Amino acid sequence: MPKESPEIHLAGIKLSKSSEDPLYLQLYNQLRTMIIEGRLRSGDRLPASRTLATELGASRVIVSQAYEQLIIEGYLSGKTGAGTFVADTLPDQLLHVGARQTTSKKKAATEVNKPVVSLPQSEMQTKIEPFQLGIPSLDYFPYKTWQTTGNKVLKDLKKHNLGYGDSLGYWPLRKAIASYLRLSRAVQCEADQVVIVTGAQQGMNMVAGFLLKKGDEVWMEDPGYFGAVSSFLYAGVKLCPVPVTQDGIDIDYAKKNFPGARLAYVTPSHQFPLGCMLPQNKRTELLQWAEENDTWILEDDYDSEYRYESRPLPSLQGMDKAGRVIYMGTFSKVMFPALRLAYLVLPSVEMVKEFNAFKETIDRRSPVMEQLMLCTFMEEGHFLRHIRKMRVLYAERLAILIGLLKAQLSEYLTPSDGQSGLHLLCWISDKVDLALLKQEIEKKKLFVSFPSEYTIEHNIPPAITLGFAAFTKYRLKMGVEKLKECFENSLLNHGGTGDRTKHDDFLPRRH
Ligand SMILES: Cc1ncc(COP(=O)(O)O)c(C=O)c1O
Repeated sequence: MPKESPEIHLAGIKLSKSSEDPLYLQLYNQLRTMIIEGRLRSGDRLPASRTLATELGASRVIVSQAYEQLIIEGYLSGKTGAGTFVADTLPDQLLHVGARQTTSKKKAATEVNKPVVSLPQSEMQTKIEPFQLGIPSLDYFPYKTWQTTGNKVLKDLKKHNLGYGDSLGYWPLRKAIASYLRLSRAVQCEADQVVIVTGAQQGMNMVAGFLLKKGDEVWMEDPGYFGAVSSFLYAGVKLCPVPVTQDGIDIDYAKKNFPGARLAYVTPSHQFPLGCMLPQNKRTELLQWAEENDTWILEDDYDSEYRYESRPLPSLQGMDKAGRVIYMGTFSKVMFPALRLAYLVLPSVEMVKEFNAFKETIDRRSPVMEQLMLCTFMEEGHFLRHIRKMRVLYAERLAILIGLLKAQLSEYLTPSDGQSGLHLLCWISDKVDLALLKQEIEKKKLFVSFPSEYTIEHNIPPAITLGFAAFTKYRLKMGVEKLKECFENSLLNHGGTGDRTKHDDFLPRRH
């Protein structure tokens, strides 16, 4: 990217305090439209956030939030300090929006007003390649048992199964989930608090739409899960980026900087993507804040079943005495992502009733066949057996990956101590030019994620995350060999100091 190219002046941007949309969303929309309409072209350098903020009479955070969202979605590239540019290759969605604009201006305008759910490039692919994030083993999934379960369900299908049914989900499945959560995750719940949704992504959209109104403040882990960022942005809320320390979300920072927040989104058992865990005293502090301020906590417990050195941690919801936690889990990691089934546990049956009225305006229920199959799979004990087997398999795959990385890449990276989840975080040595590394990784068609791409405004030192659960020893080995070549071609000319950052070295323990 030509760093010396002059910043362009952005004329015609108007932000209105009386608009329903928060300021950063107004700016995001206008910049995105300028890119879509070709007024901003690939390689154009945007004004520094401070300069644009001064020109617009807005705070720098507003501009940074708009830039960060456009970076996450692939419209812009670059980082604070180095300059922000219109990306060379624009996201596919952009082309479609452009095409629709010529036929229907009105529709295109509505589309432009919404941020798109921005999956990283790797997750849009149909192939599953090392080191794609968040994919469980699909080679050891018990296909035969699943097929037998399907046959049984089809054979026993009743007429009433084919009607609209209960939009909260298939009752026996809600019972099976409640019982699993009570035993395995110490969640305090009965079946009538469980709501089946079509994936955690839908769950987050619904929670945001149901609990929040435009402009409400939401604590968001920074770095954090991009799917949650998208859901909240869609709902028009104001994202409040909270740094992550070794002890998970920095609650003191959040309380000080965003005291009026209506909801906190957290991944307390296994922070996404850094992998740290919210300790007991911080959990208590978070719950106390929610209780005292009448606010909500959305606990995203996406892969907590997988802890390899000790027992899974009990949920945060299990400690909640005031009914402020919405608990969310997904079957994407413990079964397979295409199942598209997840669940919310709401604090009370009264809330479930209100939520149901809202849910019915969006969808009447998740597909019934999958619910029936999953229910039978759980009731017959296959589900717990599968998780137990996968825990052993993933522990082995993680150990293999760490072994390979230590043997071949210790000069360039340090694996974190995390012994949980489906991905491994590795800190990168300062010998490595991160931009070059990204290019090399792209060239080699490896699927490596950079946690810095999941940040909103708090920088973190260079790191990569490697998904390991879905890959055999052979594929991990081939992947690490390719990765080694990428690192070898990405060394800085001056050689750096050779320092290897460690988790403990940089993530401040603020408390
Ligand atoms: C932190 C986190 N939450 C939620 C999800 C989404 O799960 P689902 O596939 O059910 O939408 C993921 C998927 O990778 C995730 O990493």
